Amino acid sequence: MSARIRPATDLLALADAAAVLQRGGLVAFPTETVYGLGADAFDARAVARVFEVKARPSFDPLIVHLAEAASLDWVAVADDPRAAALAARFWPGPLTLVLQRRPELPDIVTAGLDTVGVRVPAHPAARALIAAAGTPLAAPSANPFGYVSPTTAEHVADLLGDAVEVVLDGGPCRVGLESTILSLAGDPVILRPGGLPREALEEALGMKLPVAAAADRPLAPGQLLKHYATRTPLAILDARADAAPADRGRLGLLAQGPTRASGFAAVEVLAPDGAVETAAARLFAALRRLDAMGLDGILAEPCAETGLGHAIMDRLRRASSHLGGAAPPPPDPPLRSGE
Ligand code: TXA
Ligand code: MG
Repeated sequence: MSARIRPATDLLALADAAAVLQRGGLVAFPTETVYGLGADAFDARAVARVFEVKARPSFDPLIVHLAEAASLDWVAVADDPRAAALAARFWPGPLTLVLQRRPELPDIVTAGLDTVGVRVPAHPAARALIAAAGTPLAAPSANPFGYVSPTTAEHVADLLGDAVEVVLDGGPCRVGLESTILSLAGDPVILRPGGLPREALEEALGMKLPVAAAADRPLAPGQLLKHYATRTPLAILDARADAAPADRGRLGLLAQGPTRASGFAAVEVLAPDGAVETAAARLFAALRRLDAMGLDGILAEPCAETGLGHAIMDRLRRASSHLGGAAPPPPDPPLRSGE
């Protein structure tokens, strides 16, 4: 049996999903970034099931999703003018702010940290669901821990099956990469590049923003080096596919744009139109298709690291890091400015 997929535009489906959440169940729902696996953020038992279903380590905190910025002080201390300015400018949208938490929020949501990650998603179905449930939703991406995030309802149903009561289908995710995570708990730092380009945040704050280095066991988790990974080993090419090895018959190619490369078992072109937004929106689905083919390896072309290209390269690096074996966890992840 698999999860019930229901259209997110169906008001009855939304009401049913809200009722599932209110009685402590789990609902997968669309956001503009990736699909989330939601539970009532104030129901510690429901949140515990999210960790269980995802096989997610308990040290990795969840993002709390709100229907509107005005609800921020349910879960966070909302007295930082920078947070207010960023919320006014970028919410609803692919930005998660890490702020001081409210003590009422169950510890399991924040993995015991005294901060909480919060965002207002831009997908109308997500906000309608949160509003109907009448409670913020703690929601990670709706995939087993470490795997590629789902960008369609079918991906969720394939990945999680009947562990989730309802999957609301809101179509393919528009952005296709997870939210950018910005910590304002201390000096501003980007904890995860994502669907909101760093440049937009830098412009809004009037300052350069450091990006936290990827590490295996960080204080700010989600920076896990081996993450967003395919089961098939993935390597990033130095340049375009011409640089690939001659023996390509068992390899798949992830091309950033139109390519004349030949001899691969399969080729996925991320952006036929050459737009980085298109590449971002199609990245995870393309990785999943290549991963399903039972190939010996996936070779990915790099892209320029500006705008969304920063997050695309971040995900490709993490997907590829298992080729060299897991690095030992640094005890205290250093910050690296710029990148
Ligand atoms: O776009 C997204 O952010 C999606 C959709 C569903 O909203 N969600 C998502 O959640 O990507 P997840 O759980 O897959 O990734 C959330 C990341 C985790 O890596 C977690 O470590 C980090 O956010 N995070 C959450 N709360 C945090 C906190 N208080 N401090 C530092 N990092 C935090
Ligand atoms: Mg995730």
